[in-house]
Amino acid sequence: MRADLERIRHDALADLDRCADEAALEEARLRYLGRKGELTAVLRGMREVPEAERPAMGELANTIKVEVEERLAAIRRRLEEERLAKSLAEERLDVTLPGIRLPRGRVHPLMQVQEEVTGIFVAMGFEVAEGPDIEDDYHNFEALNIPRDHPARDMQDTFFVSEDRVLRTHTSPVQIRVMESRQPPLRVIAPGAVYRQDDDVTHSPTFHQIEGFWVDERITFGDLKGVLSEFLRRFFGPGTRVRFRPSFFPFTEPSAEVDIGCVLCGGSGKQADGAACRMCKQSGWVEILGSGMIDPNVFGFVGYDAERFSGFAFGVGVERLAMLRYGIGDIRLFYENDLRFLRQF
Ligand code: DAH
Repeated sequence: MRADLERIRHDALADLDRCADEAALEEARLRYLGRKGELTAVLRGMREVPEAERPAMGELANTIKVEVEERLAAIRRRLEEERLAKSLAEERLDVTLPGIRLPRGRVHPLMQVQEEVTGIFVAMGFEVAEGPDIEDDYHNFEALNIPRDHPARDMQDTFFVSEDRVLRTHTSPVQIRVMESRQPPLRVIAPGAVYRQDDDVTHSPTFHQIEGFWVDERITFGDLKGVLSEFLRRFFGPGTRVRFRPSFFPFTEPSAEVDIGCVLCGGSGKQADGAACRMCKQSGWVEILGSGMIDPNVFGFVGYDAERFSGFAFGVGVERLAMLRYGIGDIRLFYENDLRFLRQF
């Protein structure tokens, strides 16, 4: 028995020393210390050892077991450290190497203009609101004082989704939605996409508008003129000439269209070669937005007291602002997504 134990000790330590990785080490452990291992078998056979020899034999077997276990633990620790060191070396990163530069996108020119306009109004104390692109007849037309037989509802203009639902033809329904759910004072700007069956060099079936309105006690047409003039001068430059022309919209009374001095000919109506300016068709002015004092009927629809509150509203086309600002003649350039065009902004 003693000879057996000495041989196992010798073999086990030699085997352990030879292990090159953790898998081999585990195999060796099972070979000697596992449930069916050699050392385990000897310990189990202790019963057959004559009683007188048993304590000495038991002690020796235990010493060997402890010795093998300690060697095993030491080798396991060394192999683990080696594995860690190796993976640290292999996965080392040189953080000083130059990176791979990814091509950077940019904000679409229409959204740049939308953000700029929104920013100007936010600086004047307006908040931003949104409404759904699919509107019901009531919000898109009815509550804006556009009666059943009004030409604006004509099939030729409006995309109908169902009998009662349309793709909104303007951002004005956001006025109704905000006023329905809140009380004045309100100073709100509502940018978004709008849809009409229209398609030529200056009209697209999808385009963008920014609606704005201010409702409080004692808001006057003077406030409308002041706010819109200030906006146009901030957007087109401090020297911009602004003119208010009487007009008609069902949801405002009185209504005004707003023109600015032509950005192409500077208001002279003529091009450098003496021909009529193609932008303003010789008038020296270009129309830029629609506006007016909110009609008392509209206040009626949202349950406001028209004796107590007054307000103005306006709507401006984002494409139109961008075309005038950048001298772009064809609206389709905004939607073709030709990078040679988009990169210029
Ligand atoms: N909703 C009008 C349109 O799409 C634009 C407009 C005109 C909005 C006058 C207004 C306004 O709020 O007061 O043509």
